[in-house]
Amino acid sequence: MSKQFTQRKSSERRAGNGNEAADLNSREYAVGWPDYELLDAGDGKKLERWGDVVTIRPEIQAHFQPGWTCLDWQARADWEFEELSSTQGTWKKLKPQANEHWQIAYQQLTFGLKLTKFKHVGLFPEQQANWRFIAARVKPGDKVLNLFAYTGAASLVARTHGAEVVHVDSIKQMLDWANDNQARSALTDIKWVLEDALKFAKRELKRGSRYDGIIMDPPAWGLGAKGEKWKLENHLADLIETAHGLMHPGAFLILNTYSPKVELQDLASAAAPCFSRNQSEIKQLWMQSKTGKALLYGNLLRVIA
Ligand SMILES: C[S@@+](CC[C@H](N)C(=O)[O-])C[C@H]1O[C@@H](n2cnc3c(N)ncnc32)[C@H](O)[C@@H]1O
Repeated sequence: MSKQFTQRKSSERRAGNGNEAADLNSREYAVGWPDYELLDAGDGKKLERWGDVVTIRPEIQAHFQPGWTCLDWQARADWEFEELSSTQGTWKKLKPQANEHWQIAYQQLTFGLKLTKFKHVGLFPEQQANWRFIAARVKPGDKVLNLFAYTGAASLVARTHGAEVVHVDSIKQMLDWANDNQARSALTDIKWVLEDALKFAKRELKRGSRYDGIIMDPPAWGLGAKGEKWKLENHLADLIETAHGLMHPGAFLILNTYSPKVELQDLASAAAPCFSRNQSEIKQLWMQSKTGKALLYGNLLRVIA
């Protein structure tokens, strides 16, 4: 599973040299919080602080000069991820006392983090932009469906605001990790579903289920629970149409995309048959480093039905 754009069309490459004027109409910025900071970015990498642990990870969007020197980065970092292939790699320990497992807080939630061979540590911090949206919209008793739900951050945010949450992921280890995060956050009763997200959503539609919020963070590519191949661009319209059918009037939909094959215009076209433009926000998701570098993380569709 990759959350990274691998390439972008030249029309979209205009942004991201770090400090140019932002086109704020089409951007939303996630922000760090006490336990997470994007410290710096550049030279194809990003330097991040997760609680006490500082990592260096590859970042294809960081095609500009970093704010700090290589020596600054090495002095701060505990771990550096070294890619062995486009999908996997190993972590190099830069400090003898560096932890491989640790936890961080986000508001009242607690997440267990660890070093994975896919360069991720168990949280996509740019999703903070969606967590604040969810927190502002969800009311006690709302039904929220989280598809491609990973380690459960969005599920926990919705649950902590009183939602009944159905959390769907096709990988058992991800459900276990999310369940562990639920326990660490002293929450209960999230419904865990190990299944292909779209199959589950279509079954829910047939059953007549309806939701007050739907969150989808599909990978650009991946495998379903039975090894089915997944390419986002082939399923985008179906995902949006299925979500539309599952939404109560006034319900929200959040869809993140991280695929080079899905541009803002593709999101607009896929959403158009179901939602009018004044129901939808379509924009890029960005985050700014402590050193003032702006990083692009992907595209975002939000709808209020
Ligand atoms: C990009 S991650 C989601 C990140 C998460 N929403 C967050 O920000 O915390 C994608 C997730 O989708 C899951 N996945 C991949 N293909 C799937 C499929 N066909 N059905 C359900 N889950 C799938 C992966 O196991 C992974 O946990």
